[in-house]
Amino acid sequence: MNKVRIAVVPAAGLGTRLRPATDAVPKELLPVGGRPAIDWALEEAAAAGIEEVIVVSSTHKPAIESFLSHSRRVRARFEGLTAIAPGEHSIRVRVVFQNEPRGLGDAVRLGWHAAGERSIAVMLPDELLLGGPLLLRSMLEHHARHGASIVSLAKFSPKEIGAYGSASLAGPGRSGTMKIDGFVEKPAQGQAPSCYGLTGRYVLGPEVLKVLEALEAPIASELSLTTALDACASTSGLLGIELIASDRRVDVGSWPGWMEANIATLGSLANKPPVRGHSDARSTAA
Ligand code: G1P
Repeated sequence: MNKVRIAVVPAAGLGTRLRPATDAVPKELLPVGGRPAIDWALEEAAAAGIEEVIVVSSTHKPAIESFLSHSRRVRARFEGLTAIAPGEHSIRVRVVFQNEPRGLGDAVRLGWHAAGERSIAVMLPDELLLGGPLLLRSMLEHHARHGASIVSLAKFSPKEIGAYGSASLAGPGRSGTMKIDGFVEKPAQGQAPSCYGLTGRYVLGPEVLKVLEALEAPIASELSLTTALDACASTSGLLGIELIASDRRVDVGSWPGWMEANIATLGSLANKPPVRGHSDARSTAA
């Protein structure tokens, strides 16, 4: 059993797609269903069985720390935050800082150093899964049973796929997963190896960290997580799992997505966990 206990949540980005609102409020704190977007990731992590979240923030965004220190889900100071509300999904949180915009790969690497050399989950907090923790839970179970790194994939139209890492698929893997043999990051029109794009949930073994460390030297500015995954796909192996409709993924890093998420969560109250209206459509059996 390779149980993953820690999730890294990159939250140091500048939120340029949501300016000028993000000049005032970090995108991770823009409200969805009456609570900061990042709170959805914390809840999802806790509900999936993750015990600790490492938020990779920036000292330019002190409001994130402020929220975390006041949240009903976490409690004060950044070592050993504990639950305060019985029955809530609560979780320990640590904050580390990425003060230069050196890319998603660098943010994950920094968070990973805080986690130690073990498998981690990575959750991009501007992608909300309104359907709850079933996708992440299923990914954690696959990793625990088979040891392979696994990423979440969704089908995108030929127009959309250029905004994502497009997976080159090598056939079916175990238990409904897909084997991936490479990625093309943000492919030009007509260059995508498949319509399957990387989405914001990853469960990664230490082999990915090794590749990220090795990538650091030649890349002067941004460190790409997808480049590291591409390298791992051809050496250590990598699985993909497809999102299903009931996962209800919404990208709140864009205004249409943010609006959609808020309309979808109109019924939920700020101090109440979101209403879960779907059944467990995902089989978690391996
Ligand atoms: C990043 C990754 C991309 C992935 C996407 C998922 O892109 O580089 O491969 O498909 O996250 O949301 P970003 O959205 O940070 O530009």
